[in-house]
Amino acid sequence: MENSENFDANELIEVPLIILFFYFCKYTNYKVLFVKKNERYMAEINNLQRQGFASKFGVIAATAGSAVGLGNIWRFPYVTGTNGGGAFIFIYLIFVIVIVINVMLCEFIIGRSAQKNPVGAFKKLAPGKHWHFVGLMGVVAAFVILAFYSTVAGWTLEYIFKSITNAFSNKNPSELSSMFDTFKSGNFLPVLWQLVFMGLTVWIIISGVQKGIEKYSKILMPLLLIIIIILDIRAITLPCAGKGLSFLFNPDFSKVTGNTILQALGQAFFSLSVGMGTLITYGSYINKKENLANTAVTVAGIDTLVAILAGIAIFPAVFAFGIEPSAGPGLVFITLPNIFQQMTGGYIFSLLFFVLLLVAALTSSISVLEVVVVYFVEELKMVRRKATIVAGVLISILGISCTLSWGAMSGISFFGKNIFDLLDFSASNIFLPIGGLFIVLFIGWFYKKEFTRQELSNNGKFKVRYFSVFIFLVKFIAPVAIAIIFLNGIGLLKF
Ligand code: PHE
Repeated sequence: MENSENFDANELIEVPLIILFFYFCKYTNYKVLFVKKNERYMAEINNLQRQGFASKFGVIAATAGSAVGLGNIWRFPYVTGTNGGGAFIFIYLIFVIVIVINVMLCEFIIGRSAQKNPVGAFKKLAPGKHWHFVGLMGVVAAFVILAFYSTVAGWTLEYIFKSITNAFSNKNPSELSSMFDTFKSGNFLPVLWQLVFMGLTVWIIISGVQKGIEKYSKILMPLLLIIIIILDIRAITLPCAGKGLSFLFNPDFSKVTGNTILQALGQAFFSLSVGMGTLITYGSYINKKENLANTAVTVAGIDTLVAILAGIAIFPAVFAFGIEPSAGPGLVFITLPNIFQQMTGGYIFSLLFFVLLLVAALTSSISVLEVVVVYFVEELKMVRRKATIVAGVLISILGISCTLSWGAMSGISFFGKNIFDLLDFSASNIFLPIGGLFIVLFIGWFYKKEFTRQELSNNGKFKVRYFSVFIFLVKFIAPVAIAIIFLNGIGLLKF
């Protein structure tokens, strides 16, 4: 009896001890894990801050890689086509020079001086103020843009596949046109390709700034340029080339409306990757020795050149094969197969073109995803790999609804637009211009002029002769113009 009482008593002490020990182990183990994770996180943060683009060519390739994309080769021709041609291009060019280059420079200034993601950058440069909401809006815009962007990039993958299997040969223009419509209104295939594309984007971004973004941009951008030039040479030797070129370069101002002007501004923002913090992010990777204004002018120059070259490659074919220039988002996918099947070596050129369209899309999509990822890493304290995967998955979910806009979800429309058109339109014509407006207001009215000058002159290393013109444009012209165009375009102001 006594013995058994003793035994019970021992057991009574032992049980709580075991439980205590169990919790002790659990706690310390957690702590070890937590510290490890934290160390890994801190190492990543330091690495990210240390890591920027490694060379001048890398800066240009990556930034031009962001700017040159589907916006130039897919969107520019079809928006030009639906907005009457030459007059649209004329207005577009004026916007690039007077407004958008300056917004680009403002983003570089914010990014490079703060060395942070768009939200963190505003928090650092304007502590205790609400400016970081501008950065947050950029992160939201990144979701919206990549959602519909990956749809079109997915179409590109299908067209690579079609090129390989020689699917365009012996098809007349109307067959090629219905081939595209049938594919786009399917469900499985377009979504599959979209997810493959998102996978590629995630894969590059996981590798980081130098081994991912910079490395791929440096290889892919020069290739893109060479192929576009080859296609241009073929296009301008087509029978109706003259008509196509005059559609592009002879402005007919009678077609210009408030909406045309809004579209031109929206296209300029979209094409130059401006207004949502991509260039704040890339600006934070630019070396302190680079001249920011030169970089902005070079990137805007390359981007505009590629847009015009894409127009030259596409419009002669539009007229030569009797397709309406206002065919909409499918324009490139319908016209180019027509050229390819007429030209010697068309098989290989078709393949190259769609591969390079994919490449252009990739060097841009990574820059959009990077905005979200670096925000997750720096503000939400995630490790890069996890941040990239989480962002990729969330964006893909939104993206699928865009892809299904002509298929399973074609019944859904808002303001007369399907989901894809709604996101495409609102990203360029609402999110980006409003983001841009706040960015110029920040540099024009809030940020100290001396800081701006320091950033532009690399701490006084050289003179900034254009400084007062820049400030004047950023303080008055750009904000007023963006506000008027925006209100007029959405119908709140009539002129
Ligand atoms: N500029 C890219 C293009 O022309 C798209 C893009 C928009 C990229 C906004 C980043 C930010 O395709």
